[in-house]
Amino acid sequence: MAAMKKIVAGIAVIAVVAAAGAGIWAWRTVDTARNAGADDTVALAAFTSTDEAAIARGEYVMRTADCAACHTQGAGEFAGGYEIHTDFGTLVSSNITPDPETGIGAMTERAFFDAVRNGQGSEGLLYPAMPYTAYAKLTDQDMHDLWAYMSTVEPVSNEIDETAGMAFPYNQRLAMLGWNMLYFDKAAFDGDAEGDDRGRYLVDAGGHCSSCHTPRNGLGAEIAENYLQGAKVDGWYAPEITSNPHVGLGESSAEEVAEYLGTGTDGKAMASGPMAEAVAHSLQYLSDDDLLAMSSYLKSVPGSGVTAPAKADLGSPAMTRAALRYEVNCSACHGTRGDGMGDLVPAFDGNHALLSDDPTDLVRVMLTGARAAHTEAKPTGGGMPSFAWKFDDAQIAEVLTYIRNAWSNAGTPVEPATVAAARATLDAREKLAEGY
Ligand code: HEC
Ligand code: HEC
Ligand code: HEC
Repeated sequence: MAAMKKIVAGIAVIAVVAAAGAGIWAWRTVDTARNAGADDTVALAAFTSTDEAAIARGEYVMRTADCAACHTQGAGEFAGGYEIHTDFGTLVSSNITPDPETGIGAMTERAFFDAVRNGQGSEGLLYPAMPYTAYAKLTDQDMHDLWAYMSTVEPVSNEIDETAGMAFPYNQRLAMLGWNMLYFDKAAFDGDAEGDDRGRYLVDAGGHCSSCHTPRNGLGAEIAENYLQGAKVDGWYAPEITSNPHVGLGESSAEEVAEYLGTGTDGKAMASGPMAEAVAHSLQYLSDDDLLAMSSYLKSVPGSGVTAPAKADLGSPAMTRAALRYEVNCSACHGTRGDGMGDLVPAFDGNHALLSDDPTDLVRVMLTGARAAHTEAKPTGGGMPSFAWKFDDAQIAEVLTYIRNAWSNAGTPVEPATVAAARATLDAREKLAEGY
């Protein structure tokens, strides 16, 4: 997780700041007065909610917040074990089932609130790979309901040592004190979470959309001025999702964006990689009203100033070669007019997800192939073959520049060096995965 790398890189620097400032500033992070309304007497292992309505609402909150995506991995539902790789080692997600020894069975509701909304876990401060910086905005009601739901989860015994794979000094939880001190805004949500501000609430609190879509500074904190304006994340690029008409959502209707979020495609763009996971684990379970509230909100967010560049000269020798290559290798699926195949294959003409100045996703998909999200509504989930073996770096760059500039599109050219760099990184990862 690229964001995590930056966060951890910042820790060493900040640890020094923290040591100096901890005494004065500690209250800002450890103060959890806001969670005082949560019960502090009964541990999760000894509690099973019988309030069916609260449990159902809590399950929905869990979906909007995508808890299962990071906490379910092999050993059983919510039993933890999901690995987040960084340059400084591996962080593993916790077992959050009610098992008293290896899960969070010993936590009271208050301790649960402190962990989820304040980043204070059972072994000390949590790393922000657990998105408490966003969950801090969850309302008391949603937290109570989430707690009711967690009490119905099957206890699973699965011992997790979250930081065993982290090297010193990055395994020092106290260092997070400094990071929190500088960057953690734990203020409650400042609007009507169930009414007019529902969309913003879902995006900022549970959805933690900005954790991928907002760029970060050198110490891993989100840059507020560039809110949702696009960022690199774990070898992918999460594009701008604001009102910007060229690279954002300005030209799509709120209904189209809602369809993309709920099903993985609006018939033009198609979610792959981490976004396909967000759709499959979380967004497909949201109500149509909530999806529309989120989309309408996104379309109201001020965009970056990025505008369409001049169109590439489609008559140049390179673009003529690329057009032919497209015709032979791509048009059977993506269409001779770049119009795709409905929900099965993304269109290119007018697909704004294609036009970001950062072409990371397109290069990646060309090299590795991709599989679209499987959802209840659109269960087919099309496949894109890899062209790594067939095209060299320059050929891939050319055909991508072509699809970014053909039809009504205009996008910056893709450089062969970008493809070469991606190829080298992906190769290295593959070797790592195969244990070379
Ligand atoms: C993006 C991945 C991610 C998501 C989404 C996520 N978590 Fe976590 N969570 C983690 C990681 C990683 C840890 C371990 C962090 C650490 O030890 O510093 C963690 C730790 C925790 C802990 C602390 C456990 C302890 O014993 O201290 C709790 C409680 C928790 N998560 C609950 C939740 C809930 C509830 C949700 C949904 C509202 C959620 N998490 C969503 C990654 C995630
Ligand atoms: C784990 C990282 C991650 C999270 C969390 C995430 N996204 Fe994404 N998102 C991505 C990536 C990567 C892409 C590009 C996918 C592709 O090109 O297929 C993307 C694409 C999108 C697109 C398509 C953009 C376009 O121009 O067509 C929309 C809309 C979107 N995300 C909205 C959201 C919303 C809303 C949330 C929060 C509920 C969210 N995302 C959370 C990583 C993420
Ligand atoms: C067998 C059908 C097929 C062929 C042939 C094919 N593609 Fe694809 N392509 C797909 C599918 C399906 C997806 C969606 C995958 C996903 O969303 O994960 C896709 C996705 C893509 C994307 C990502 C678009 C987005 O919205 O994120 C790019 C870029 C792309 N293809 C380029 C090409 C190029 C260039 C060629 C020819 C060299 C090509 N494809 C050939 C089926 C195909």
